[in-house]
Amino acid sequence: MICKRIQITDFRNIRSADVRFDDGVNVLVGANAQGKTNLLEAIFYAAIGKSFRTTHDEDMIRFGSELCEISMDFADSRREQNLTVRLMRGKRRRIEHNRVRLAKVSEVVGLFRTVLFCPEHLALVKEGPAERRGFLDVAISQLYPNYLRSLQSYHQILKQRNQLIRDAENDRATFRATIELWSLQLAREAAVISQYRYRYLTLLQPAIRACFAEMTNGRETPDAVYESSLHLEPEAFDDPAAVEAVYRERLMSHHDREIAAGSTLWGVHKDDIRIDLNEKPARLFASQGQQRSIALAMKLAEGEICRNICGEIPAFLLDDVFSELDATRRAYLAEKIRGRQVIITSCEPISTAGKIIRVNNGEYIG
Ligand SMILES: Nc1ncnc2c1ncn2[C@@H]1O[C@H](COP(=O)(O)OP(=O)(O)OP(=O)(O)O)[C@@H](O)[C@H]1O
Ligand SMILES: [Mg+2]
Repeated sequence: MICKRIQITDFRNIRSADVRFDDGVNVLVGANAQGKTNLLEAIFYAAIGKSFRTTHDEDMIRFGSELCEISMDFADSRREQNLTVRLMRGKRRRIEHNRVRLAKVSEVVGLFRTVLFCPEHLALVKEGPAERRGFLDVAISQLYPNYLRSLQSYHQILKQRNQLIRDAENDRATFRATIELWSLQLAREAAVISQYRYRYLTLLQPAIRACFAEMTNGRETPDAVYESSLHLEPEAFDDPAAVEAVYRERLMSHHDREIAAGSTLWGVHKDDIRIDLNEKPARLFASQGQQRSIALAMKLAEGEICRNICGEIPAFLLDDVFSELDATRRAYLAEKIRGRQVIITSCEPISTAGKIIRVNNGEYIG
């Protein structure tokens, strides 16, 4: 995957920009608050249909403007393509692939495959389950559009079901009449999502181990295992019909507990990845450096899996990570990203050879 060129109007602090990238390493260099991360955000948004910094699309429109546009020319191993996104205040966004309008964001994801790595990802091991679910969601969605469709539908059903639970005290009749329907639908999507997540982790596990072993000379062994709110053995998730039955049973028979809690207590919105180092929870026992190495290994593994499954090497977007890593990990990362497209941001020039793009107040020269 190669991002060839990006043209931007009124996105964040970028009034107007036209940036061309090399096939290898590209380094965006500039002082703080000049627009380095903004450019990565624009690429990521065009690829994934959402930002890694905000859930409000309008935040990305330049202050004082009514609309912004990102047009990205990219190539996979077969052909050149274009994705254009336009965001408008108070209106629905418009996304075009090769000038043809797309109806749903699930049609965009997977066209330009990318792996984003920013300082927050270094805390993937230490942070809460939501961050780890987010990692899985972005990685799996880019490989399987059906996953994203199930996930979107799941969250919609979950919202309705939670509302129903919250209203149950005041409206028992509606609750009794409809809870079964929502529970069945939720169980069906949960089983699909669980299976994807379980399978993805069976691929991730050996890939993390391999990266981690290279980084640390193989003294320690990390594990990354799918952990669901159902507390079943991970292998159980390979049988979606059986898993759906378990979700159904939980969601149908503990209504009083759910009403007391005010929300849905079982489902993939409670999933986590259990990360161990030498068979102990890494969050509690691994050192800060080990946790960061595992996180780095997870991100590199995401790239490896993408290449193995779809035959395309994803473009890496690295936001400020070199400054956060020690010399050994920095050297390792530099070695691993050779031979693929990487777009790196940095306040200081970095030694990795490649195209330098200077960033100053939303303008890009290079
Ligand atoms: N909607 C917006 N309209 C205009 N400017 C914005 C908008 N959103 C953010 N900005 C500005 O963008 C700038 C931040 O840009 P960015 O995050 O890309 O900086 P950076 O170059 O990555 O800096 P750092 O090195 O600190 O990470 C800030 O000055 C911020 O005020
Ligand atoms: Mg930044």
